[in-house]
Parts: sequence; structure tokens; C-alpha cells
Amino acid sequence: MDKEPWILGISASHNGSACLLKGDRIVVAIQEERLSRIKRHRIYGAKASKAVAYCLNHAGIEPSDLSLVVLCIQGRKQDHQLHDLRLDPFLNVITNKIPTITIPHHYGHALSVFATSGFAESAVLIIDGTGSPVSDFTAEELNVMNGNKAPDSWETISLYHASGTTIVPPSIMCSTTQTSRIPLSASTRPFTVPPRAMSMTGKLVMLITSPTASTSEPRK
Ligand SMILES: [Fe+2]
Repeated sequence: MDKEPWILGISASHNGSACLLKGDRIVVAIQEERLSRIKRHRIYGAKASKAVAYCLNHAGIEPSDLSLVVLCIQGRKQDHQLHDLRLDPFLNVITNKIPTITIPHHYGHALSVFATSGFAESAVLIIDGTGSPVSDFTAEELNVMNGNKAPDSWETISLYHASGTTIVPPSIMCSTTQTSRIPLSASTRPFTVPPRAMSMTGKLVMLITSPTASTSEPRK
């Protein structure tokens, strides 16, 4: 048990949060807003956060005890001043020699829901306002994306296949331009280029953009 790695996950998003695992067991997880009392408090990979400090303090460990830090960004990884983990003054990943991984936003959603689902195998559908830009996609994701493939496009709906400890991107991924990241409503249509109508994702997009559709919490 003691030899199992400490793994820290950070969600650098509008719902900033951190999660600490010992091996495959979740030890503690918390959102920044619970500590700052600022609703939906955003945190950044390059900056210290109350959530990360809380998790390590709860476990009684120091940053140097971490075996891995995984960062999931809602935004552009290329915004180094915001999301470069090497700049985090609390974790000090270079000095502490902590390996880091940065994963796309929808990929993080898919991993987290499948890992806690109890399923041995599953399809995972992520419907999310805006996650990561195309420039931050994995090579596998770039090979399967559909919709608007422009360099400034962002992932919007993604499908993954998860099995055991493996999760691979879908046969379909829809993207849209950043300028079209507007709230879904009866009068607005968020996709500049409609996905293929006959695909499963296409049907879902048609459903949620129909005149009768609405969302209570857009752009989440
Ligand atoms: Fe999200």
C-alpha cells in the first residue's frame, strides 16, 4: 500500500478542483469554490490553488511526495502563463522532479466518469460547451474529429470507448469555432458547421439544437 503512488489531478477550469489518489483509490477531492467561497472559482495550472493545498494537507503529504500530476485544462494549453505547471509556485514540479501530464478537457471528463462508473466496458459520450482547442488534441483525437476542423475549433461533443484501463477516442468528434461558443437556447444554434446528420452525434446535435431545446446551465 505504501508503495502505491500519490497522483494529483487538477481541473483547471471554471469549476476549478483537485483530486488526490493513492494508487487507484480516491483519498480526497474538492472544488476551489468550497474553500474560496467564490462560486465556480476558476483555477489555473500555472498558479497555486487552495484546492491542491487542501488535498495534500488532508493526506499529510508534501508536493515532493507526488509521483505524478495530471492537468486537465478547459482552455488553451498554449497559454503558458496560465497553464504551465512548471510555474506553479506551490508544487515546484521541476525542483521536486514530479512528472506531469496534460490531457484534453473532454478526455478528462471521459476518464473520470468511466473510472468511477463501475463498468468494465462502456461507451462514454461527452456533451460539453467548450473543452480544449483542436491544437491540444491527442494524435488519436485528431484522426477522428468531425465537424469544423479549423485550427481554432474546439471540442464540443466527443465519444469514447472505454474498457479496463484503456480509453480511446471515438469514431466521431464534433468541433466548433470559439466564436460560436454561445449559450444554447431556442433561438441560437451553436454549430457553424453541422455534423453529419446520420451519425449518432449528429442526431444528438440536431436534438439539442432543436427549437424546443434549452439548457439551464449553458457553457458548462
Ligand atoms: Fe467540461
